[in-house]
Amino acid sequence: MLESLDKHTSLISANSYVLLFNLKEMAVAKEIFKLRKEHVNFKKLLSLLDAQLDHLHKGDEPDYQLMTDIMYYMTEYSDTTHHPKEEAIFSVLLERDSTAKKYIAEITGQHHTIGESGANFHETLENILNGEPVIMRLQDLEKPGRTYVANLRAHMDKEDRNLFVRAEQLLNEKDWKKIDAKIQHHKSDPLFGTHVEERFSSLCNQLGQMETKSS
Ligand SMILES: [Fe+2]
Ligand SMILES: [Fe+2]
Repeated sequence: MLESLDKHTSLISANSYVLLFNLKEMAVAKEIFKLRKEHVNFKKLLSLLDAQLDHLHKGDEPDYQLMTDIMYYMTEYSDTTHHPKEEAIFSVLLERDSTAKKYIAEITGQHHTIGESGANFHETLENILNGEPVIMRLQDLEKPGRTYVANLRAHMDKEDRNLFVRAEQLLNEKDWKKIDAKIQHHKSDPLFGTHVEERFSSLCNQLGQMETKSS
């Protein structure tokens, strides 16, 4: 009887250990989980943008307001919060894994080029909304849009498959505390967060419609 109780207690202890271990792992990888989730969200926006570029390609009038809202979000949230968070993680990762140096340099460089091309594309769209006639050839609008979508998708895939995996495997609790201290001041997500900012309410509805169609 006592022997079986001992076995039972050991089993509970072992399970508790596994549970505690998993909880610790979850806490450590929390920021990477959030960044991966943001990638999923960004890809939804890129699909919406792609669909508008398809309209443009066919000669139909795209929803310029929707495209502008998407690019406003990407330049005001992704470029100013998501990318700096990643860079804070990657700088600590570099202390643990010097072989990540060339990937980090490549990814950080892409943050600049994607940010710059996104800001230019957003400006073009805002000018159209503000009444500037769409006198440019359609491909001059479509090309930067398609390039932006393709580059950002490829960029996120690289992070998901390489640097995020390294960060999940190599960074310890102390590293994550250091990272948390660097990123805690960052603003919350104005579209996919707990509170949707007024200016994104229409975009939020469009995302809801897209989800309904695909389910
Ligand atoms: Fe990134
Ligand atoms: Fe990212």
